[in-house]
This record gives sequence, structure tokens and C-alpha cells, in this order.
Amino acid sequence: MFKLCYISQPVREFSFKELDSMLVLFRKNNHNQGITGLLLYRAQSFCQILEGEEAKVTELFRTIQTDNRHQNVVLISQGRIGSAAFYGWSMKFTVLEGSQIFSPTNLPPIVDL
Ligand SMILES: Cc1cc2nc3c(=O)[nH]c(=O)nc-3n(C[C@H](O)[C@H](O)[C@H](O)COP(=O)(O)O)c2cc1C
Repeated sequence: MFKLCYISQPVREFSFKELDSMLVLFRKNNHNQGITGLLLYRAQSFCQILEGEEAKVTELFRTIQTDNRHQNVVLISQGRIGSAAFYGWSMKFTVLEGSQIFSPTNLPPIVDL
């Protein structure tokens, strides 16, 4: 089992309706690939944790990195894990309160779990 975390910023403001419909597709793909994880949204920035088989997670991350809906993709951490922390969540989406965008020095504590 492999886990990867990155941060990024959307190229424009997405409505929750738009994010919801994007998530429908992400979840379908992730379910098919055995990928689980968490997408956090705060102050116009993303922090995503992807977990699953290493080859599948790195392949998905390569695709995500080139996705033109966001920019400034920064890999925060990656490595092997014992078991999936987000088992059963094909991509949990949570909006966090706060006005600071995610940055390497301003990450949610869940990233360290
Ligand atoms: C912030 C963000 C998070 C994303 N997360 C996922 C994800 O968890 N799973 C997924 O399949 N695609 C995700 N995508 C979309 C991928 O970049 C890509 O569009 C999708 O995997 C379809 O790729 P394909 O057209 O090569 O099949 C995400 C895109 C963005 C901008």
C-alpha cells in the first residue's frame, strides 16, 4: 500500500456544484483502480491524499499533475503505508475553514497521520 500527498491551487474559483460533479468522476475512477483518499479544500487551495497500489497511485498523480484545472502542484510526501487510512472512501471531500491556502509550511495535521 502506497500513499501520496500533494497541494495545489485551482486555476479559477470552482462552485461546489462543479466540484461535486468532478468528484463523481474521480470517485468512479478511483473505485475502479482501488484508490482511496481525501481531498481537502481551503481558501482556494487543494490538499489531496491518494492511497492504493503504488503503480496506480503514481500513475494517477502523473495525470493529476498535468490537469489544467489546477496549478502549482507540489508533492508533499509519498511512501509505503501499512494499511489504507481512508478505506471505503473513494475520495472523501471536505471543506476546511480558514483563509490561508495550503503551503508546505501550512498543512493540515491529517497529512502526518
Ligand atoms: C484537484 C484535482 C484532484 C483530482 N483527483 C482525482 C482523483 O482522485 N481521481 C481521478 O481519477 N482523477 C482525479 N483528478 C482528475 C484527473 O486529473 C484526470 O482528469 C482524470 O483522472 C481523468 O483522466 P483521463 O482523462 O486520463 O482518464 C483530479 C483533478 C484535480 C484538478
